[in-house]
Amino acid sequence: MKGLILSGGAGKRLRPITHTSAKQLVPVANKPILFYGIEEMASAGITDIGIVVAPATGDEIRQAVGDGSKFGVRVTWIPQHAPLGLAHCVLVASDFLADDDFVMYLGDNMLEAGLAAFVDRFVSARTGSGTSRSYGGAPSAQILLARVSDPGSFGVAEIGPDGRLLRLVEKPEKPPSDLALVGVYLFDKTIHDAVEQIEASARGELEITDAIDWLIAEGYRVDHEVLSGWWIDTGKKDPLLECNRLVLDTFGRSIEGDVDDASSVDGQVVLEAGAKVIDSTVRGPAIIGSGTTVEHSDIGPYVSIAADCRISGSEIDNSVVLRRSTVSDIARLTDSLVGRDTVLSRSTRAGEAGRGGADGPEGPGPGAVRVMVGDHCRVEIE
Ligand code: DAU
Repeated sequence: MKGLILSGGAGKRLRPITHTSAKQLVPVANKPILFYGIEEMASAGITDIGIVVAPATGDEIRQAVGDGSKFGVRVTWIPQHAPLGLAHCVLVASDFLADDDFVMYLGDNMLEAGLAAFVDRFVSARTGSGTSRSYGGAPSAQILLARVSDPGSFGVAEIGPDGRLLRLVEKPEKPPSDLALVGVYLFDKTIHDAVEQIEASARGELEITDAIDWLIAEGYRVDHEVLSGWWIDTGKKDPLLECNRLVLDTFGRSIEGDVDDASSVDGQVVLEAGAKVIDSTVRGPAIIGSGTTVEHSDIGPYVSIAADCRISGSEIDNSVVLRRSTVSDIARLTDSLVGRDTVLSRSTRAGEAGRGGADGPEGPGPGAVRVMVGDHCRVEIE
């Protein structure tokens, strides 16, 4: 079994962050989203992994992942010249995949359940009987579904009265069910015939949903199961922040950095070695990266601050701050994503907008700021 992780694409919905960096490298609880997928594969025993990358962000992803040895896997890089669709990724990866079964994983998806049980079910369903066009044969694909409130934003499954998968539709205006396609798929080599046969959709992409529909129409067996546990497509800010909360909730407490006597650090807080907390309150769940200084500030809950940041005179909750950024004198920063090397500050500090400022916990009040700021920005808030 091989692994194929899709880490190309344009990342339009996380702009401006993705103008300068790959959406799959945006951190959740201070770890790039993509790394969770690689680790999941490794723990499912899949060590031969191809990663599809785009020209603009490929180098950055290559640099972050390396040769895969830090994850215990071997990585083969697969360039895709343009984001021509998920089925196009299978097409460009065909030399790497050869005739092997594989798990395809969308590099911006995160799920609570591990991959191992899902992969094991496919492997045992395929053992003993070869793929055939009779439904009693081994499955040539297996998909994972999850119930969602906004199915029109995803691939959606239509299931027949006998429980069989009838078809998949990509981002339909009138969804046939609330069962969305999760970004984890298992295939055997038959998918290569399917991706050769289909044509580009109206949005100009080779859709994996069309390729799976081709398998169904040709009589191949496609198994499905409905996921329990959370699943998040992190491609937009609010789902990304939700994912950050869910992952931080699983953390324990680990204080390796310095906390001065005037500060309090409560609950599930990870303070990495080399981080400093001065005259501040940190309420978990939260993580503060190495080399970051927090002073005269209130942090948390649900905050991830990456390495080498400087936070002063500010309150921050439910937010993610990327590397080497500065937040100073912001009365309340909430529901926010701040890019790398960015400075967010108050130009003239309003009297009522200091630490412990104007807003209650119920929601952002007049002194609160809610932003999504890209890399290398300087933002002054009046
Ligand atoms: O998250 C689940 C959904 O993912 C499924 O329900 C949909 O059926 C599926 O089409 C996909 O929809 P998205 O609109 O979220 O796909 P997105 O364009 O964000 O691409 C998903 C990942 O694949 C992302 O990491 C980028 C990568 N990708 C995407 C395209 C179109 C590539 O590497 N190459 C591509 O050509």
